[in-house]
Amino acid sequence: MNEQGREQPREGIGRKQEALDYFRSKGQLEKAREVLKLFSTAKKSASLYPPNHEICINSFTDFMRAFKEYLSWREEFSLRIVGEEFFFEEKLMPRESVLYYPLIKELVSKGIGGINILASLDAAEFVDFLYLLNRGSDELERYGGLRRLMEDKEIESIILDEPGTWEEKTREIKERHSAREEYFDAVDVIRELADQVLSDRRLSVSKANRVVGVMLNRVGENRSAVLGLATMKNYDEYTSFHSVNVLILSLALGSMLPLDRSALMILGTGALLHDLGKITIPQSVLKKSGPLTSQEWEMMKAHPVKGADILMAQPGVHLLSVMVAYEHHARYDLSGYPDVKGKERIGLFSRIVEVCDVYDAMTSARPYQKARTPDQAMRVLVKDMGTAFDPLLVKVFIDMMGLFPVGTMVRLATGEVGVIYEPGENDALWPRVKVIRDAEGGEVEPRIVDLVYLKDKIGETGQAILEALHPETLGIDPQTYL
Ligand SMILES: [Fe+2]
Ligand SMILES: [Fe+2]
Repeated sequence: MNEQGREQPREGIGRKQEALDYFRSKGQLEKAREVLKLFSTAKKSASLYPPNHEICINSFTDFMRAFKEYLSWREEFSLRIVGEEFFFEEKLMPRESVLYYPLIKELVSKGIGGINILASLDAAEFVDFLYLLNRGSDELERYGGLRRLMEDKEIESIILDEPGTWEEKTREIKERHSAREEYFDAVDVIRELADQVLSDRRLSVSKANRVVGVMLNRVGENRSAVLGLATMKNYDEYTSFHSVNVLILSLALGSMLPLDRSALMILGTGALLHDLGKITIPQSVLKKSGPLTSQEWEMMKAHPVKGADILMAQPGVHLLSVMVAYEHHARYDLSGYPDVKGKERIGLFSRIVEVCDVYDAMTSARPYQKARTPDQAMRVLVKDMGTAFDPLLVKVFIDMMGLFPVGTMVRLATGEVGVIYEPGENDALWPRVKVIRDAEGGEVEPRIVDLVYLKDKIGETGQAILEALHPETLGIDPQTYL
């Protein structure tokens, strides 16, 4: 049974039982490590000595004892191989993947993609299995293969997975990992461009375009996972992270509209580079916590024009991308800056970036403001739609994000704290959440809960999520749980 399977509704079981479950899950990985270690030792002993040798007897007994102990947590032991790595169920075992690398290689070469050991295992079966497993690949082949020999020996409590069984399932985990690397690549590129602006060099526009293309592909593959990345913040290096977040949000929002790839590329470049004009503003002004002097405010207000000037001078930047930098503070009703009153309205790309820009800014902690939670920020967007923001775009944005977008830290109806992990399959109100704290605030081994299974337990409020929380108040970085 997989971890998710365990999240089925447990009717009539109260909070106490759930707390107990968490306590159990905390020790699971450690227990699994112990079982794997003793498995490896027993296998090695069996390769050196006959089964009745003292060393073998001891190592077999040790394994059986640890396995029985493990069974008080779990109904079976499931070791998976993905590429050249061990997974205990869905959890990567980085340490063991290195320590037992030769074992992984051997299992793969013998056509094993995973080993499931059932509770019914007895010592004789285990010993038979080890001696079969230790036979050479050629010999196994000669006798019709390992699985066939296991059948002959009536080994029924150990089930082998076919090679590659888990590759597909863990692909998503790896994808999340590489999407994060791409995020940091993008941050690097924006840093590089900033340096180029400061030293008056030509901008690496092609690098910026590459970053936009990569993110656009990600948005096409899995919009909600990429949106989770856009919750990444960096207090000290706000502008670089902000630029990448605005890129992601704008591409995601743009991809909800009937825009083709080349249009999205232009939008993305504008979004990534929208604040480039801020580079020459001193940090003391950008990070000032008190009100700005009129001179400082003028400096701030000049950044869209400055940014547009910089971009205009670069070959290879589309005019509409330049317009995004120029217009992103002009506001929907043209009441912002710079003065664009001669126009009927600002461009579509500028309106998209404006919504995303303000959303990311509001949800970031700055020296002059506390971060708003996503739902608070979305309420501000709604309040100012029609004046500051294009009302249609605000509606699409909220549809896309849901009230609790991926990466939001929330308190559940059960009192536990979690991070929104994935939107619900059919209904955005019931997303999948990674629970990280129990109702008493205690740390728990993170696990994914489908909120749909809380439906039955929720009484008066009818809400599975009570509220969004400020991550900084709990000192938690939700990103580490995505
Ligand atoms: Fe700006
Ligand atoms: Fe901005």
